[in-house]
Amino acid sequence: MPDFMDISRRRHTVRSYAQRPVEPEKLAAVLEAGRWAPTAVNAQPQRILVLDTPKNLEKVREFCTFGWQKKYVDLACESDTPGHDHIVLYYGAPTVLVVCYDREACWRHPQTGETSGATDATIVATHMMMEATSLGLGSAWISYFDHDKARELLEIPKSWEFVCMLYLGYETEDATMNQHLSGSRRPLDETCFFNTLDQERA
Ligand SMILES: Cc1cc2nc3c(=O)[nH]c(=O)nc-3n(C[C@H](O)[C@H](O)[C@H](O)COP(=O)(O)O)c2cc1C
Repeated sequence: MPDFMDISRRRHTVRSYAQRPVEPEKLAAVLEAGRWAPTAVNAQPQRILVLDTPKNLEKVREFCTFGWQKKYVDLACESDTPGHDHIVLYYGAPTVLVVCYDREACWRHPQTGETSGATDATIVATHMMMEATSLGLGSAWISYFDHDKARELLEIPKSWEFVCMLYLGYETEDATMNQHLSGSRRPLDETCFFNTLDQERA
């Protein structure tokens, strides 16, 4: 039985998916892990649209296409040449979870008026991503997609906000890891501070 640290270290962004479907029981377990995530006042404003039909995956291909930006070319599995006018960040995932929250179902901070929806749905998505890893599935968190086009093609209600897409599936055997993006982390002393920000005095 893997422990959490093992799952945490094993998880990485998968950008090349085998054409093998996600088993329904694994998908159910991933969704269940999200269901048990904490949300502010237990309001559970997350709304998750599961896409796994060819027709819907074709829509994903359409709205995860963006204007060409040099810095994202490394990430793209396809980039249109010679014009380089757009890149596609689809990666062939057989199942896509579109993670949203309903603005009208969220807790609101009484001072700032900000809703907890993005935080809630982010925690839900993180639970689902870690459960996917524990089941041997690959995943990718995708923020870079065209929200307007996705809203239109998927007929997303006006009160729902997008948080991310979570791609799910099995990594292809010949996939290579992007070392720059995946293989390393900053040392803890650059991001964590004990009692004081002045590390000389810590
Ligand atoms: C908020 C967020 C947004 C991300 N958006 C994208 C994205 O649009 N496309 C993509 O290919 N990867 C995306 N990623 C994946 C990150 O690039 C990746 O998590 C990071 O480089 C660390 O690599 P690792 O997940 O393999 O450990 C995103 C990750 C997060 C947490």
